[in-house]
Amino acid sequence: MSDGVPAIEVHDLSKRYGSATNGVLALDHVNLSVARGCVFGLLGPNGAGKTTLIKVLTGISDITSGEGRVAGFDVRRESLEVRARIGWVAAEVILDDDFSAWENLWLQAKLQDLTNWEDRATHLLQYFSLLDRKDDKVSKFSTGMRKKLEISLALLHQPSVIFMDEPTIGLDVPTRRMLWDIITGVHKEFGVTVLLTTHYIEEADALCDQIAIIDKGRIIAQGSPSELKARVRADIVQLETSDTIDAATLRALPGVQDVWAQGDDWMIRVGSSEAFLPLLLRTVPTDHIRRISVEKPSLETVFLDLTGRRLGQEDEPMRDIRKFYAQMRRARS
Ligand SMILES: Nc1ncnc2c1ncn2[C@@H]1O[C@H](COP(=O)(O)OP(=O)(O)OP(=O)(O)O)[C@@H](O)[C@H]1O
Ligand SMILES: [Mg+2]
Repeated sequence: MSDGVPAIEVHDLSKRYGSATNGVLALDHVNLSVARGCVFGLLGPNGAGKTTLIKVLTGISDITSGEGRVAGFDVRRESLEVRARIGWVAAEVILDDDFSAWENLWLQAKLQDLTNWEDRATHLLQYFSLLDRKDDKVSKFSTGMRKKLEISLALLHQPSVIFMDEPTIGLDVPTRRMLWDIITGVHKEFGVTVLLTTHYIEEADALCDQIAIIDKGRIIAQGSPSELKARVRADIVQLETSDTIDAATLRALPGVQDVWAQGDDWMIRVGSSEAFLPLLLRTVPTDHIRRISVEKPSLETVFLDLTGRRLGQEDEPMRDIRKFYAQMRRARS
């Protein structure tokens, strides 16, 4: 990749699954530029199009219209060049449990037709403190060790860009934190650009130099975590009352920029919560107030501000079997 060429460039890219009339528009005219050497986060709720973007950029899925370039190569016309330069850490398990760590690396080398991969494999195992476990079967590995090995496989052919789809989903907090350190470390040690997807706000905030917020196939905001937070020059006051209160009353209070209802709560966007709260308490009788909370600008409030919804809220139909069983279990309990 020559100097100055972004690691990833996406121009007006759309992806439709199924027919033009009945299909799903999973990506809707997406534009992105990911600088070399950064950790770039795609943050969005379930069904936003995050995995789809990885799939079209890695050549697993076709592009419907527009253009994508990775490491300077067109993902449609130069797919072999692209594949030689990318690594992918999938959300699903890809390791062979009956093989040792070393055998998994060997298998990866075979799959990718690599020669002279052994020194690199040893370096990776050493870096991830797995060298003394290289002959152990992967079935004996902890979750964290498995993740390290998965990342080693993705890095074996010395890619310049690595895609990680929800790398920490389902992990406990200490393992997730360990993985954050690994992702930042890998990017420094091996000089790779990392594009990761996540729906964990704190993860995007802690890890990423740049973030694109994606919702319903569209990029709705892009920038560094602090740039994004600076966009919302407002606090969000969340209010639950025992009595009905109308939007007009709240809107009429000085400093209120916007008011909307979310479930049983009122969400009130105000310039300064410190100035607003005394006014609110003079307007709504305190014995009618069940709960008040204030959110200072965060990536959550950025999403809330842009979409009127919380990132954690899911309103689309369940799509995979895990979600189906989770809902069944909840319904029974
Ligand atoms: N193979 C497919 N065929 C049809 N529709 C699909 C297919 N894959 C994804 N979709 C749809 O495309 C949209 C985007 O899905 P995608 O998997 O990219 O979302 P995501 O942001 O990765 O979500 P999650 O956080 O749940 O992984 C969704 O509406 C989904 O139902
Ligand atoms: Mg996904």
